[in-house]
Parts: sequence; C-alpha cells; structure tokens
Amino acid sequence: MTWGTIATWRMAHDGVVKASDLLTAGGQAGDAVEALINVVEAYPYYKSVGYGGLPNEEGVVEMDAAFMDGDTLAQGAVGGIHNVMHAVSVARALSHQHYNSFRVGDGATKFAQLNGFEMTNMLTDRAKARWQKRLAELATENMTPYDGHDTVGAITLDTTGSMAAATSTSGLFMKKAGRVGDSPLSGSGYYVDSEIGGAAATGLGEDIMKGCISYEIVRRMGEGETPQEACDHAVYPFVAKLKKRYGKAGEFSLVAMNNRGEWGVATNVEFTFSVGNDQAAPRILIAHPGVDGHSTLIEPITQDWLDAYEKRIKAPIE
Ligand code: GLY
Repeated sequence: MTWGTIATWRMAHDGVVKASDLLTAGGQAGDAVEALINVVEAYPYYKSVGYGGLPNEEGVVEMDAAFMDGDTLAQGAVGGIHNVMHAVSVARALSHQHYNSFRVGDGATKFAQLNGFEMTNMLTDRAKARWQKRLAELATENMTPYDGHDTVGAITLDTTGSMAAATSTSGLFMKKAGRVGDSPLSGSGYYVDSEIGGAAATGLGEDIMKGCISYEIVRRMGEGETPQEACDHAVYPFVAKLKKRYGKAGEFSLVAMNNRGEWGVATNVEFTFSVGNDQAAPRILIAHPGVDGHSTLIEPITQDWLDAYEKRIKAPIE
C-alpha cells in the first residue's frame, strides 16, 4: 500500500521516522504529520522550532504553526503563540472549528490554556544565551540582526490516500514582536489536497509569501506535473522574478509530495530534508540549486556532514 512523508531539514528526520512507523502500521495522515512535528518541537537543540526556539528581539519566544487536512481542506493556524509546547497541536485543534480557526498572540495562547495543551516556558537557557550574545554583537558590530529561520514543514500520505500538511516555527531570530511569517499562512507556508498532493516551505517568510509558492506547487501537480517538475517550475522562475522586480530574494526551500508518494524539492540554498515512502525507508538527503538555474541537485547526505551538524547544534554558546 502506498504511503509517504517528506519534511524540511535534517532536524525533521526523527519525526519522519516516527511518522513512517505510524503510516506503515496503517496510521492516519493527520496523526502522523502532527506526531512528526511534535518530535521536532520537543527537541531543545533545534533553535528555530518549539522548545529551545530562538526568541524575538524582546526575548519572547513567539511561535507560528499550521495544520491542514487534505481530505476536507480544513485548516487551523496560530501566529505569535507563547508558552505552548506543541503549537502544531493547537493549530490542529483549531482546524476542527469552522470559525476562529486562525488565532494569534494572546488569543491563541488563551485557547491553548483553556483547552488543556501543555504550557511551558519555551525560552531555554541556551536560547536565552544566544539572544543575549546577539544583542551584544548588534551593539558593537554593524550587522543584520536576522539569522536562522529553519521551519519544519511536512506532508504525509496514508495508506487510505488521505494527506495532511503541517508547519511549526519560532520564526526569524530577532524578529520584531508580532511579526508572523509564512508558516501559518495557507498557500504560502503549506497546502495540501488529497486529490493532488501537498507542499510546505521553509525560509524567509516575507519572500515566500510574495509567491504563495506552496499553493503554486500543488496547483502545478494538479495540472499533471510531477512533484519535482512542480517544485522546479514554481521556485526557480519565482526567485528570478523576485530578483528582477523586488531587487533581491531571501533563502527558501520547498518540499512536495503527490498522492502517489512521489516527491520533489527545490531550493535556492543548500537544503537538507528527510523523506520516506513504501518504496524507500526514511533517509536524509541534501539539495542544491542546479547551476542551470532551473533544476535541483539532490544527493545522499554524508556522515561527515551529519557529524559536523551534530557538533554545531550542540556547541557551547560562547
Ligand atoms: N519560514 C518561517 C518564517 O519566515 O517565519
């Protein structure tokens, strides 16, 4: 039976393994995508998602997340939610409501509290130390405050043909209070339709939003393109368009899967992702934009890369 899952960044791999186990056992796409994202949200060394995520410039961890059911097209999302361990689970609960399904700030946090979601201070000592270090750097050096926006975005396909999509992020490091990125925005950070497929984004939300790229990839798959064609055709011309008309393009990467478990990615930066389906066990791959400017190079990850990554994410903050 066909099933599949794909998610952004190496950090998603343990979650992809968990989702794959659930899907192999006949689990439902929505449960699998939520479980996948929950694994990433709970891991303290991932600095741009959930617990341990980096704060805004005021030192507050504000998280954005979304959930979409590809069968019903139901969506739930939160923006700037605080003190909630699993923002994506709050988004999923909101997706069950016809009204008030996208909530932000205190309203989102209050919904989580009232509905019994796990509440905790999401600012770890490590994230606070990084924030303090960045404040000190900004005071002495002429540098941009923004760094790191490695959203986890994921798509799942279950053995009944149902699909789901979800995202979770603490957004841009040192963002302004109340800044919301693409991750909770339908069509920008994510989209899924079980009759076609799904896509999810990571990268600079302000630029991803300019192209509604997740929806564009799903639309292209609906017209018969493979996930890889849809990613390449949606992402690279858009990067060129942004550079021409806006003058620059931030870094971003997209993953996609169709309802046959076939997948694709496109990126304008080095980009790792994890993917598994009934044909191939979950594995981490690395993508780069092709030199021709309209294709994607995808290779297996090396052990050296993985070792360096592990060292980097756990390095002391000095
Ligand atoms: N893609 C995440 C963000 O821009 O917040």
